[in-house]
Amino acid sequence: MNEKKRGSYDSPLKATLKGISDLFKKQKKDVHLSDSDRLDDVTIMVTGSSSGLGYATVLELAKRGARVIMAVRSGIPDKGEEIRRMSGSDEVDMMHVDLSDIDSIKGLVRNLKGKKIKLNMLICNAAIVPRISRKTKQDLEEMFMVNYLAKFLLIRWLLDEGIFVADGENLPRIIIVSSESHRNPKVYDWDNFGKYKEYGMNKTVELYGYYKLLLTTFVNELSRRLNKNGTKISVFSLCPGPVNSNIAREAPKLFHPLLKVVFGIFFNAPEKAAIPVVYLAVSDDLKGKPIDYFFMLERKKMDVKTGDPGNGQRLWELSENLLEDLGISFSKSI
Ligand SMILES: NC(=O)c1ccc[n+]([C@@H]2O[C@H](COP(=O)([O-])OP(=O)(O)OC[C@H]3O[C@@H](n4cnc5c(N)ncnc54)[C@H](OP(=O)(O)O)[C@@H]3O)[C@@H](O)[C@H]2O)c1
Repeated sequence: MNEKKRGSYDSPLKATLKGISDLFKKQKKDVHLSDSDRLDDVTIMVTGSSSGLGYATVLELAKRGARVIMAVRSGIPDKGEEIRRMSGSDEVDMMHVDLSDIDSIKGLVRNLKGKKIKLNMLICNAAIVPRISRKTKQDLEEMFMVNYLAKFLLIRWLLDEGIFVADGENLPRIIIVSSESHRNPKVYDWDNFGKYKEYGMNKTVELYGYYKLLLTTFVNELSRRLNKNGTKISVFSLCPGPVNSNIAREAPKLFHPLLKVVFGIFFNAPEKAAIPVVYLAVSDDLKGKPIDYFFMLERKKMDVKTGDPGNGQRLWELSENLLEDLGISFSKSI
């Protein structure tokens, strides 16, 4: 990455201040949800729904009648029981997945297939902000894996297995939680794609933005490939804005009391931050749209680099090549 070009999301402090200033900016409101917007009989899997935004999202989806599958690495069965109790719905399942581990993602897909579950929607929400670099079981860098590659892999396997289904006139939707920090990096670092690198706390936030750039580029490329002959699966993305969640859990313990206060006062409660996610899942206005992106309640354009087909193609090929080196190939090419 170009070290000289620095932006609003390249340190924890700058990212926090940017988040706070975003909340005070006047936003257009393009999100309209009403109580009559329902998801009865719609099956939706949400990753990272044990905490924060994902947890608030499944609660609201369950209240609106959706059959939800919480794909989580922790909180089984307690979190699911809480959602059942608070939503009054029994249609809440939990499945274990550790998105840092390719074998575990494979296990989740096998589990869905074994139970003959078909999904109408997938919400890829899980992400981490680690304190330092860590290696995964497959020797990849953990934040790269959880925040980007796991989403590529999970979606490709779900498509390979035919797990997405259209329900009547409703097309499947894939919703990917990104971040406005995807605008921070000015260039792609293709030469080092997927290579493990050591980093410390000073680099984490910058890399977080970089992986959100990869993710948002993937959103564009996925939609382009799936929907070239008319919309088959909508691919939506969003930044929820600053959320009072557990995202900063790995910050040094010393800062926890301060972060608790700042997040509690300034950041949006997860239930409020979940409104655009739920809108992307439920809204009739979005029926048949191949792609869309929201920043909190406002429709926005994604960073222009992410829509460049050359970047999308390169990312797709690099991701496939990396997975091929790990012995993974796909039966359906998209
Ligand atoms: N918070 C913000 O201000 C903010 C701003 C912009 C975008 N976002 C995005 O919002 C999304 C949700 O984050 P959040 O703020 O709600 O954070 P959070 O409270 O930390 O929730 C993250 C979720 O991801 C799960 N997760 C992490 N690593 C995983 C793994 N290896 N396998 C499976 N699940 C894993 C966590 O599970 P465990 O509980 O088991 O660890 C947790 O359920 C993320 O995509 C984040 O980038 C957040």
